[in-house]
Amino acid sequence: MASESKIYFYPVWLRIWHGINALGILILIITGINMQYSNPQLELMNFNLAVNLHNIAGIMVTVNYLVFFFGNMLTSNKKFYRLKLKGLIKRLTLQVMYYTSGLFKNEKAPFPLSEKRKFNPMQKVSYLVVMYLFVPGLIITGLALLFPETIIENVYSISGIFLTAILHASLGFFVSIFLIVHLYVASIGKHPLNNFKSIINGYHDIGGH
Ligand code: HEM
Repeated sequence: MASESKIYFYPVWLRIWHGINALGILILIITGINMQYSNPQLELMNFNLAVNLHNIAGIMVTVNYLVFFFGNMLTSNKKFYRLKLKGLIKRLTLQVMYYTSGLFKNEKAPFPLSEKRKFNPMQKVSYLVVMYLFVPGLIITGLALLFPETIIENVYSISGIFLTAILHASLGFFVSIFLIVHLYVASIGKHPLNNFKSIINGYHDIGGH
């Protein structure tokens, strides 16, 4: 049983998905950067090793994505991802004001978390964009690059493979930026480690962000 100040936010399937996803994406970022800036004179990681690890981690993240997608579809976790457009800009502005100013003045969070609200508006929008646009986009372009014969040859005389690679690398860049912000925001709370403990044991401490 949880104490009164804790809410069971992260069921086992979600924590397993999140752990595998975090590890997989970290491997993808490290190996992806190694391939992007590969230099035979200064090899941080053997190029072929980077390619193989990138392919393996990519397949791992892809299969694991099905756990996230169907897990959300089949359980009540999906309710936290429902976005009301009415008043969204105002809610996002309030949250940004809090993160950039109110937080440092010890003001109260504008959208305190509860049984009904697992995400503040900024979390909700960023998780929606990352999990339903960026990650699927990375998976589709990644699979296409793994099977390049499926890619259209030319788009207005520009190579289809080149365009797919640019899109893939750009999405990878956006997810990397998300991860940096995600780690910073997750460290905001009663104690910097509280939220990291939550995603491992399932229980969120009330009074965080
Ligand atoms: C070292 C890597 C990571 C760490 C330490 C980490 C940490 C956390 C923590 C502490 C939470 C719960 C608190 C919160 O919502 O802020 C969380 C939730 C979440 N993280 Fe991460 N994360 C990592 C990587 C990622 C990556 C790579 C993605 C997506 C590409 C991701 C997507 C999510 C999502 C969607 C949730 C909310 C899940 C839900 O409750 O439905 N995380 N993460």
